[in-house]
Amino acid sequence: MIDVTAPTRFLSVLDFGPAELSACLSLAAELKAARAARRAHERPLTGQHVALLFEKPSLRTRSTFQIAVRELGGDVIEPPQDVVLGGRESIADVARNLERWVSIAVVRTFAQARLEEFASAAPRLRVVNALTDEEHPCQALADALTLIERFGELSDRTIAFVGDGNNVARSLAQAVIMLGGHVRIASPAGYELPPAAVAEIRNCAANGGTIEVTDDAAAAAGGADAVYTDVWTSMGQEAETATRIQLFAPYQVNSTLMSLAAPGALFMHCLPAHRGDEVTDEVIDSPASVVFDQAENRLHAQKALLAMLG
Ligand code: CP
Ligand code: NVA
Repeated sequence: MIDVTAPTRFLSVLDFGPAELSACLSLAAELKAARAARRAHERPLTGQHVALLFEKPSLRTRSTFQIAVRELGGDVIEPPQDVVLGGRESIADVARNLERWVSIAVVRTFAQARLEEFASAAPRLRVVNALTDEEHPCQALADALTLIERFGELSDRTIAFVGDGNNVARSLAQAVIMLGGHVRIASPAGYELPPAAVAEIRNCAANGGTIEVTDDAAAAAGGADAVYTDVWTSMGQEAETATRIQLFAPYQVNSTLMSLAAPGALFMHCLPAHRGDEVTDEVIDSPASVVFDQAENRLHAQKALLAMLG
């Protein structure tokens, strides 16, 4: 069953091409079906250890990686936060130590450059981005799996992201456009995805995928097949919370905004949600909401990713 290979690192969705992304999502769907049927599958991490290195809090990513590794036959080590990435010794030295003990490192950190530095120092280590300030590619795998489960092909579908032009927006856009879908991102001025990131996303479009950037939430949501949002203040930006709450208020996903989307449109959120800020209870708890499917799919998508890397 597990016969697809991948690059040796997954620091970004862009480490995959469209064929590898589709292969990963197909394998994720197979592993999901096998788990639901309690059917045994291959355990390609048997005898291997995976290090989980987290510099920021996590419920979903940490839990789903722990379960994924164990279900693939491997075991995890979780060094405490005060020794993981550069406080006690250099990032490169941490990587060079881990390379001698484990086969895969799953890393959540701040700047993407820290992750790149870690990965470059240990070329034999397979490295996975578990969220940086700039990208959240494992989330994008789960989001793409969720969209494909609902829509099949994405080539005639529009996904609107309303809110901060952040890590989740960037990785989502990369995955959707690589699958031939259409992305609209609405953010307030000054909080858009950087133009270089938009150009990079456009460059990886396949099968007619497109991206549009606007500051108009209603225009982005209008006729969209899914409306996605994320927190207005990401981890590490807490000092900006008050300013952001004021600025982002017109970007709240509420019933009025959802009423502009296509009939039956999905509501998506990576979680954790700040209910009453970026999304109302009414929307996140509505039948349109697939947020817990997304959370479940973190597990299946990451099992597929680890199987490809392992
Ligand atoms: N969506 C997500 O990455 O959740 P955690 O921060 O809880 O891992
Ligand atoms: N943009 C959020 C995502 C959390 C999963 C953050 O970086 O905090």
